[in-house]
Parts: sequence; C-alpha cells; structure tokens
Amino acid sequence: MSLHIGAEQGDIAEVVLMPGDPYRAKWAAETFLTDAKCINEVRGMLGFTGMWNGHRVTIQGSGMGMPSLSIYANELIRDYDAKTLIRIGSCGGMQDHVGIRDVILAMSATTVNTPSSGMFRELNFAPTADFGLLHAAYAAAQSHDSKVHVGPIYSSDVFYDERPDLNEQMVRHGILAVEMEAAELYTLAARYGRRALAVLTVSDHLITHEALPASDREKTFGDMVEIALTAAFAA
Ligand code: HPA
Repeated sequence: MSLHIGAEQGDIAEVVLMPGDPYRAKWAAETFLTDAKCINEVRGMLGFTGMWNGHRVTIQGSGMGMPSLSIYANELIRDYDAKTLIRIGSCGGMQDHVGIRDVILAMSATTVNTPSSGMFRELNFAPTADFGLLHAAYAAAQSHDSKVHVGPIYSSDVFYDERPDLNEQMVRHGILAVEMEAAELYTLAARYGRRALAVLTVSDHLITHEALPASDREKTFGDMVEIALTAAFAA
C-alpha cells in the first residue's frame, strides 16, 4: 500500500494507463482487459489490473489536474516501480486543422506551472514524451480510423480560464490542444527514468466551440486506449 493507493505490492503492472476519470478506468478495464481485478478504491480513484494480449496492464485513475496526477504518478513510480505510464484522456482542440474526435500524441507539454516547477527555480524545464512510445503510438494509430496529430500541447492549471490571452499565445505558437495533466507526468518520468506519453482525444474545441456528443465518446475513446496499449507493448 502507498499513501493514496490501496494495492498490495505486486498488484500493479509495469505498464500503467492513466485516465483522469476513475469511471473511465473501470470502463477501459472492462472493455479491453481480461481477468481485470480492482486493485484500488481509495478515495474512489479506481484502479484495475488485468491482461491485454498476454501482457499485464494496470489502468489507474489520476484525477483531474497536475496536483492530483502527481500524487498517483509519484506513488506508482516510487512505491510500485511502474516503468511505463501513459495518460489517456480528453483535451480541447486549439488549431483549425485539429477536429473533434481526432487523436493527439503529445510530443511536449508547455505549462505556466507544474507541481515540480519549484525545484527548477529560474529554469523552464521542457516536459517531453518518450520517443519510443511516441513513435510506436504513431505507428499504431495508422490502423485506426481516427485522424492523428503529433505535436505540442498545453497543460493548463485551470479549466475555467480567466487568461484568454495565454490561450491566444498558445494558438499562435502551434499548440495543438489543452489539457491539465501531461506536463507533470512527463516531468516525473524524466526524473525517475521512466517512459511516459499522453494519448488524447479531442472532446471540445476552443476555437470552433464544438463538443463531442456523449453518444460518440466510447468509440472514439476506444481508439485512444487501443493505441496506448499497442504502443506500450511494441517491441
Ligand atoms: N481545457 C482544459 N482541459 C481540457 C479541456 C479544455 O478545454 N477539454 C478537455 N480537457
């Protein structure tokens, strides 16, 4: 057990998928894993371990925002020795050529701040995906219907943003989408020598103001989970 995860030692696989929503962890485990067993219920932040194509996988909710993800990713790495951590989640599109339902593989994650920022003092650390995972995810995405984009994203601290000028600068600088977790995940993976990637589905759009209808979510999110699983176990 760790402070926020009730799993026994050995209950958590080396590969961990991390959706923000604990109920999405449950859905993904029931949909994609065999023999899935619930390994965490502390604070309702559900986690499951099961098998996918002969490989052991854990799907553990991270909660919303970097402070929450940071707690779970720290404990998965430091207490359970997770080696590969892939965020699966939704994001808001920020470019005209990025459409609702598209999949985004986040190469880098710009931020104002992460829970790790303090330790860097005056330095602006550049949180970056693992290239092997990114490459494998891009290859895996080719066999899915979803359109895939590889590029930079913005990990924001706020969903209800009072600084639209920041979003404008992100758009000007080619940022594909906004979400709230990847930059801290990439920073922790770098610190501990682990592999990390964020595979995201565009659920809403900051420029066109479109939003993904609830009825479409499962199919689209399913592509994201399959891409993440295939990338995690690519040779
Ligand atoms: N902002 C921040 N995070 C998000 C968004 C958004 O518009 N959509 C999905 N995650």
